Amino acid sequence: MTNVENSVKEIVGKYAKDPKRLMDILIDVQNEFRHIPADAVSTISKELKMSKVDVEQTVSFYHFFTCKPVGKYAVYLNDSVVSCMMGREEIAKAFEKETGCKFGEVTNDGLIGLHNTACIGMNDQEPAAIINGVVFTKLTSQKVKDLIAGFKAGKAVTDLVKEYGDGVNGKFLKTEVKNNIRKKGPVLFSEYTSGNALNKLVAMTPEQVISEVKNSNIRGRGGAGFPTGMKWEFCSKNQGEKYVICNADEGEPGTFKDRVILTELPHIIFEGMTIGGYAIGAKQGILYLRAEYSYMKPYMKKVLADMRSNNLLGKNIAGKQGFDFDIRIQFGAGAYVCGEESALIESAEGKRGEPRNRPPFPVESGYLNQPTIVNNVETLCSTVRIIEKGADWYKGFGTEKSTGTKVLSISGDCKYPGIYEIEWGMSIKEMLEMCGAENVQAVQVAGPSGICISPKMFDRKIANEDLPTGGSMIVIGQHRNLLKEVVANFMEFFTDESCGSCVPCRALTPVLKNKLEKILDGKGVKQDIDDMLKLGKMMKDLNRCGLGQTAANPVITTIENFREKYEALVKEPKQDGIYEFDMKAAVKESCDFAGRKPIIH
Ligand SMILES: Cc1cc2nc3c(=O)[nH]c(=O)nc-3n(C[C@H](O)[C@H](O)[C@H](O)COP(=O)(O)O)c2cc1C
Repeated sequence: MTNVENSVKEIVGKYAKDPKRLMDILIDVQNEFRHIPADAVSTISKELKMSKVDVEQTVSFYHFFTCKPVGKYAVYLNDSVVSCMMGREEIAKAFEKETGCKFGEVTNDGLIGLHNTACIGMNDQEPAAIINGVVFTKLTSQKVKDLIAGFKAGKAVTDLVKEYGDGVNGKFLKTEVKNNIRKKGPVLFSEYTSGNALNKLVAMTPEQVISEVKNSNIRGRGGAGFPTGMKWEFCSKNQGEKYVICNADEGEPGTFKDRVILTELPHIIFEGMTIGGYAIGAKQGILYLRAEYSYMKPYMKKVLADMRSNNLLGKNIAGKQGFDFDIRIQFGAGAYVCGEESALIESAEGKRGEPRNRPPFPVESGYLNQPTIVNNVETLCSTVRIIEKGADWYKGFGTEKSTGTKVLSISGDCKYPGIYEIEWGMSIKEMLEMCGAENVQAVQVAGPSGICISPKMFDRKIANEDLPTGGSMIVIGQHRNLLKEVVANFMEFFTDESCGSCVPCRALTPVLKNKLEKILDGKGVKQDIDDMLKLGKMMKDLNRCGLGQTAANPVITTIENFREKYEALVKEPKQDGIYEFDMKAAVKESCDFAGRKPIIH
């Protein structure tokens, strides 16, 4: 038996040869060998009694699974918008200078690999990089120099952390991440005693719990704003072995509030999952945590263990006979689309994170085709406070249609980037004052999949009924080139992150990106602007999941709100030799390629 075979068998054994744990198996193999060797794929497929192709499919889907070694020290430097705004280019150059290799390469001796990665949830402390799971923030050229010297001297990455984070990060986690909580609101960040809500819960029936959550009018904080009580009620009425999933994938560029809630308030999250379990009748919960946050693993496990020993998880919770519930952690491996609930479920089952066709919705057929609720971290935390303090108390915050508070992740061109728990209904103008932003050109509300607004719209309110957001707020100063520095980066992001299963998303996102680049190169014509709007509409109508439906938003919303910036760059239409784009032909061509029927409006 080879070394690889031996080790892989051991890893597979650790997960009881369970194919549903394929993600965990691959994560361990990748960490041990710094890639997934071909022999490992063969051994995994034999041990799990799966076809090799099925294993390869999962391997090929995720950014952090690689067929080639990533280096003994693998540097993943964030290349998203705010990182670039905060000086990523200079840091990338410093890494290249110190290592003698380029991004996308590994040094000849296999010691150091330099890789780009999408937003790692550190927008408030960029430029930042993940190195062998440890996060380094506010990088400078000097820091890079010291890090590379440390790698060359064979030091452990954790020993190179110079300044630990604040709060829990500083106490328990060997990483540089700071929490930057700028405003504590009355709901999530108010005083909390672990177990209070559960002790109250056990005197209630599941129906009473659902009714309280419904009465609070809370809507999901993951972006779509679906009423939480209604989701729980639907699920409670279905039959089967039910599951509660906490969505901590947080891949939307600019969002980092779940990162802070996860390390500051993990007890509340787990208590919220347990309340959800009681309400719908589930015994098992899964915290789906993005790979970028793997530095949290030891702390999360410790919290779970503490809660078990305090009878807040496990059997007969809070002394109530038959109230059994426990939680496991499932890590992702780098894929934005896995934040979409059905893709997340596929991933948690060990598969490619491709969104499912809906209906059926997860409440009917979710994890392992059983009734499942998927809720955002912040939603689950809020339900704890609703049970503890009552729906009427909760409804006293926010607006009529958006009750409670919202945790914002504010970053970009402002003095105080960080986390703010506000009441729904705050205006963008008030938000900009709060975070110390001046001379603002635009605010990207709700990340790239959201909307880019101009100063004319700064009186608008942060609320489901006006400007909904999952929490990402990127402030863009007057001095930025909005189209080049922001919109082009977002389109690159969506092109990379499309899972490829819907043809319009796979084919039209790059078309939009290329058209934008053509305009930025001074080769565009006016017709390109209108073509992009039409393509954007197709994307909304034809794609299966929210990623494809919103991937054109960076272009569409900037054309709507900053059209003059596009017009200043384009020439008059139909000049000789200038390429004209035929949308219908492009969609037909890509559908023919995939053997699907085009729907063209
Ligand atoms: C591409 C994509 C990424 C998403 N990422 C997240 C995420 O990181 N976290 C999250 O809670 N919801 C995310 N969502 C929304 C989820 O599909 C789902 O609506 C949410 O988890 C439901 O929880 P809630 O009802 O508590 O909001 C994403 C949706 C899409 C289309």
